[in-house]
Amino acid sequence: MQKLIVANWKANKNLVASEHFLNNFPKELAEKLRQNSSQRVLIAPPYPVLGQMQRLIKHQALPIELAVQDLSAFGAGAFTGEVAAENLEFLGVKMAILGHSERRRLLKESSQLISDKIRQALIVDMEVLLCVDEDNFIEQAKLLTSTERSLIKVAYEPLKAIGSGQALQAEAVGQFFTQLRAFFPENQLLYGGSVKANNIQDFLKISDGVLIGGASLQLETFVPLLQNCLL
Ligand code: PGA
Repeated sequence: MQKLIVANWKANKNLVASEHFLNNFPKELAEKLRQNSSQRVLIAPPYPVLGQMQRLIKHQALPIELAVQDLSAFGAGAFTGEVAAENLEFLGVKMAILGHSERRRLLKESSQLISDKIRQALIVDMEVLLCVDEDNFIEQAKLLTSTERSLIKVAYEPLKAIGSGQALQAEAVGQFFTQLRAFFPENQLLYGGSVKANNIQDFLKISDGVLIGGASLQLETFVPLLQNCLL
């Protein structure tokens, strides 16, 4: 199965910075990624740059797909300020990262709200990467139907590892996956939290992919990380 390399840019990068990133993406690495189908690379930028990123990726035939960091729990319609899954279809967005701990914590998103968002993504056949940790995975899983559960990918994101530079040990991640398997027996399971070039291989050995924040923001750190996936 293909390994997923999902970059979450969070609320970073304006149009100029995003263009710079794609325009300077090394051609040789792009070619290697195109030829090696054992991984998929996705970037979730802020909404305002999605359109331009889509154009540049297409123009340069970059082996990068687009994701979003959130979605509305409602469909298209009179929901001021929301971005509905249907609004994103024409931008070629393939995946929605939902339930990130920053949204659960800072925006008080509940597991119920997140399951409503998952439903909206699935209606338009958008892939879902659900983020969970020790404190919420059981509650979150129970709010989904077995069909919904079977359709999503799940990222284990331990709070203490996010943005701290202190990734979990791969062994501890593997142990948590055993617990996740009770609810997500066949799903692709990813790990996120301080993934970098020097530890990505450890996590790819025990998981179906990684969710990367900080190390995905600059080519100086993202390129070596991708190169190490190809080893
Ligand atoms: P980090 O972020 O790689 O900067 O720890 C991970 C995440 O928030 O998904």
